[in-house]
Amino acid sequence: MIKQAIIPLAGLGTRMLPLTSVMPKELMPINGKPNLEYILDECIDAGVKEFIFIISQKKLSIKKYFFNDNFYRKILKKKKDKRVLKEYKKIKKYQKMIKFVYQNEPKGTGDAVLKCKKFIKSKYFLMLLPDDLIIRNNCSKEMIQLHKKTNGSIIATKRVEKKTVSRWGILSIKNKKKKYFQIKDVVEKPSIKKAPSNFAIIGRYILPTKIFTEIKKLKPGQGGEIHITDAIRSLIKKENKFYGNIFTGKYLDCGTLSGYINSGIQIFKGK
Ligand code: UTP
Repeated sequence: MIKQAIIPLAGLGTRMLPLTSVMPKELMPINGKPNLEYILDECIDAGVKEFIFIISQKKLSIKKYFFNDNFYRKILKKKKDKRVLKEYKKIKKYQKMIKFVYQNEPKGTGDAVLKCKKFIKSKYFLMLLPDDLIIRNNCSKEMIQLHKKTNGSIIATKRVEKKTVSRWGILSIKNKKKKYFQIKDVVEKPSIKKAPSNFAIIGRYILPTKIFTEIKKLKPGQGGEIHITDAIRSLIKKENKFYGNIFTGKYLDCGTLSGYINSGIQIFKGK
């Protein structure tokens, strides 16, 4: 059973500067609710019981958002505002599920995931990149179902326009079924000519604990960072089974300003 989710939150968010110079992008509100809460709600609905947040000293406001009891208590003591009470209860619910680990230098998603090693209790765990929102249908739930069916690791994927493949991690595939396929290889940002498909990786993964050993062996890759995809690649080469879950929800990219603005519009429209 997948009960734990890792959420890397220690990046610099340079694509959303200057906003991210004072505010983590993961707390920026989308239709009145922080980006990160959409991710938590998706996971909780899929049966996750524990979250491991990777933050940095520069992003302590994420911790404060969830652990600000004195602030709420003082306000609620002064006046019993029903809305504040409801929000505080929601925060308390999240609070019980969250642990923090620190990555003070953003050395990449692989390095961030490795920091969580000692907290992971089962053979598999979920990892979500909070920039990638998927609305309408619960992607984590679909992935957990596929994991149960295949007993393998899972990566969320969607078809992207062929002319944009060089912006994505692209999957080389085999044994394609209607909603999933086996992954033969992962290619980071290939040219249109070299792309083995137009199935792109979206930030949801079910990973085995074996990944930690592979991450430890990695040397910095593209941009001098330790990438989770490089560790996945080595596991696939060692015959570990990875499947692409062609999710049915709608993908929203919240990592850029234009994507963030569009996400607000889409979620508002969808209500
Ligand atoms: P991104 O590369 O999209 O985020 O990583 P970033 O680095 O913050 O943003 P840009 O590219 O500079 O604009 C996806 C997620 O992984 C986290 C980020 O916080 C983000 O939520 N991350 C990234 C880490 O936790 N550690 C890292 O070293 C890198």
